[in-house]
Amino acid sequence: MPSQLAAPWKIGDVTIPDRVVVAPMAGVTDAAFRIICKNFGAGLVVCEMISDKGIMYHNQKTLDMLFVDPKEHPMSIQIYGGAKETLVQAAKFVDQQTSADIIDINMGCPVNKVTKTDAGAKWLLDPDKVYEMVAAVTAAVHKPVTVKMRTGWDDEHVYAVENALAAERGGAAAIAMHGRTRQQLYRGKADWEILKQVAAAIKIPLIGNGDVRTPADAQQMLTEVGATAVMMGRAVQGNPWILTQTTHYLATGELLPLPAPMTKLTIATEHLQRLVGLKGEHQGCQDFREQVSYYLKGIPRSTRTKVALMSATSVGEMTDLLDDYADQLATYLASRPVK
Ligand SMILES: Cc1cc2nc3c(=O)[nH]c(=O)nc-3n(C[C@H](O)[C@H](O)[C@H](O)COP(=O)(O)O)c2cc1C
Repeated sequence: MPSQLAAPWKIGDVTIPDRVVVAPMAGVTDAAFRIICKNFGAGLVVCEMISDKGIMYHNQKTLDMLFVDPKEHPMSIQIYGGAKETLVQAAKFVDQQTSADIIDINMGCPVNKVTKTDAGAKWLLDPDKVYEMVAAVTAAVHKPVTVKMRTGWDDEHVYAVENALAAERGGAAAIAMHGRTRQQLYRGKADWEILKQVAAAIKIPLIGNGDVRTPADAQQMLTEVGATAVMMGRAVQGNPWILTQTTHYLATGELLPLPAPMTKLTIATEHLQRLVGLKGEHQGCQDFREQVSYYLKGIPRSTRTKVALMSATSVGEMTDLLDDYADQLATYLASRPVK
């Protein structure tokens, strides 16, 4: 049975080699991190949400975010916007000017700045609008279009099934759903019962999302909820080997051990180097500060290194700090009595 859970599947005409998708995360899933995720076995990676207006006005920072590395296919570019015209224009740009395999529409972002422009989760209040927007985008592009949504706006407005069916009617090739409402933000538990109803109602693949933290969670999302694939977000931050663990578990039922602390440091250093390669030394180091504590979490005696990294500004300085810490850690681990 487990090997079935590892079989390739399709979004439109794009083959996804396994069942694990890395969630779009603003400030996290840039091309540097996406390649690392790919190397650890992600079947599909999704970029950070990108503004339709930023694309239309050719804002340089936005255009930089559209960069696709040849090593990360298949990958999906997520766009957001509140008006049909601009969303369609942005989708056409992604379709014609980038090598992304899939275009994803954000219908889940809970942030006020986004919802007050009628974008993100605001759509969840109106299945007719979901249909209209998705139909307009799918009619304008060649690449498959997917939609990422939450279950609803708040407890009173949970139109998960209606919205998913509307997106399907509009031509969406798959739906990723996070089992929380907009009002919940990240509080409480993701509601997998609603995801189960959605999986049963739609014919296109459901990518189940929300609180998939372990390989066993992933298996449950596939077998009990009936999702075609799982989407993992926070669990992957500073922890990309969870992707290998999960794909391996789904394929074989065997749980691989966690990597040694030294391996985590090596991956953190690779992440730093990739960020600097992608964004230059200044921005790469800034962005690495946001990510490094996820790698160091739970590793003994890392506090001082974490603090020092927060004020380091060059790749040399940061690499030295990580190398010095690796040396100290090796000495500390060797000095511990063997049990
Ligand atoms: C830091 C961060 C940034 C996020 N950015 C986006 C985004 O750009 N687009 C989006 O659709 N969802 C975004 N999300 C939501 C995630 O894609 C995902 O739905 C959510 O984290 C639940 O999955 P998880 O429990 O596996 O983390 C973000 C989440 C986090 C934690």
